[in-house]
Amino acid sequence: MSRSLKLGVNIDHVATLRQARGTVYPDPVEAAKICARAGADSITVHLREDRRHIQDADVYRLSKECPLPINLEMANAEEIVQIALEVQPAEVCLVPEKRQELTTEGGLDVIGNFQPLEKTVQRLQENGSLVSLFVDPDEKTLEACAQTGARVVELHTGAFCDATDPAEVAALLRKLIAGAETAHRLGLQVNAGHGINLNNLPRILTLPHLDTLNIGHSIIARAVFHGLEHAVRELIAAMNPTP
Ligand code: PXP
Repeated sequence: MSRSLKLGVNIDHVATLRQARGTVYPDPVEAAKICARAGADSITVHLREDRRHIQDADVYRLSKECPLPINLEMANAEEIVQIALEVQPAEVCLVPEKRQELTTEGGLDVIGNFQPLEKTVQRLQENGSLVSLFVDPDEKTLEACAQTGARVVELHTGAFCDATDPAEVAALLRKLIAGAETAHRLGLQVNAGHGINLNNLPRILTLPHLDTLNIGHSIIARAVFHGLEHAVRELIAAMNPTP
């Protein structure tokens, strides 16, 4: 079945679970294969500078074994850029990164960091990766994105997805819609991500020109509940082998 809107699954939480126990499971490569079987279009992993979830070895293994294109999310930090240059993922998404944050908190300050970003965008794109910039839906920022030479933007949907006040929700949705229009007019591919779940998805789908949604937390959270019953039954059966 061909679909026009693509889904990229962020599997960082699989590695978070593994790192919590220092075990070898659950394995992000296995998770990527399951996502592929389920019809996902790409796999996103964020190789953070503090390596809190995805490790370098995961990125190298995924680059060999993942059946789907990889979108490597990363800060514009030379050590990580070197890894991206070596691995040549299909896509790189540059994001701002703070050590203390629980997750990526805001979009990139593309205007304030224009030159270093432009340089990295060019190095990565010349190396064969499509570069995406993770930004808030701000017109001047989107214009700066286009000037870096990046071909894709990922609109940060986190503020909209977290908002509860109806007036704020409506205003933030209007900003996202305007941002998607601006990005498209500038010739940029429009992706979106952060905080998207089954409840807010219908309104996210009102954004024009969407190419890909990158979703992690809500998918892994639902996967836990969908799989928990099976995992308990499986263990009980193993505890009571039939003679
Ligand atoms: N896109 C980017 C750039 C992100 O940083 C994240 C979170 O790692 C996501 C998408 C996925 O967000 P969520 O886990 O809330 O679905």
